[in-house]
Amino acid sequence: MGLSPKAIDAFLDEYAELREDICYNKKSGRKISACLPMHTFGFPVHLDELITVCDKWNIPLVEDAAESLGSEYKGKSTGSFGKLGIFSFNGNKTITCGGGGAIVSNDLEIGKRAKHLTTTAKRPHPYEFYHDELGYNYRMPNLNASLACAQLEQLPFMLGSKRELANIYRDFFAEQGVNFRTELPDTKVNYWLMCVELESKAERDLFLKVTNENKVMTRPIWQLMYRLPMYNHCQRDDQKNAEFLEERIVNIPSSVR
Ligand SMILES: Cc1ncc(COP(=O)(O)O)c(C=O)c1O
Repeated sequence: MGLSPKAIDAFLDEYAELREDICYNKKSGRKISACLPMHTFGFPVHLDELITVCDKWNIPLVEDAAESLGSEYKGKSTGSFGKLGIFSFNGNKTITCGGGGAIVSNDLEIGKRAKHLTTTAKRPHPYEFYHDELGYNYRMPNLNASLACAQLEQLPFMLGSKRELANIYRDFFAEQGVNFRTELPDTKVNYWLMCVELESKAERDLFLKVTNENKVMTRPIWQLMYRLPMYNHCQRDDQKNAEFLEERIVNIPSSVR
């Protein structure tokens, strides 16, 4: 799903330039701080190709793995490829502790920095309160964290149950001639949100109408960001892949059984 790495490279060629090993946006002159792939619905993106592009342009990779806890690319967990990765434990995710999430990194310095900024930038001290920069109160309360630990133990069960459901859907939709999205080579999907790809927007709209009228909750994908008022001025490409998918993809019930 999403932009192909070749298209991203072409996009960067047009919009970016390398100066002293730092990548800048040609139009705004601003530094490109990171490339932030997102593994939509738990389907891993083409990480190898993306890493090649990022290395070429000296752009750090930061993975938004909010939806893809348990997904793998070439046998390695999504979220563990970039300098940083994030997971969400929001109520709608594969495991939850009510809200919040986790930042992961193999770089100790980045990990310490993330912890400092997310815990109000308070300097460690037994009783003094001194904040040495602007920080954020994003720490997870212990109560939620204990729930997250218990949920993590359930993760293999959740993933197995979702995979069983995905297999049932795969067989059912194959018989109906409907494209149920499954794993691509080299990937393992957590099946957080399962989806079908329909032939056209008209077919999608009919599918949404009939299922919802029959009390089966299905829904279209989220609004494309550039259509939202606060982002519609942002630099972007023609979004034709996103628009293609928006017209055809429907999420179907995906809960653990
Ligand atoms: C791709 C993606 N990124 C980020 C988030 C935000 O995570 P949270 O709700 O834990 O803030 C979500 C969903 O909630 C998401 O799906």
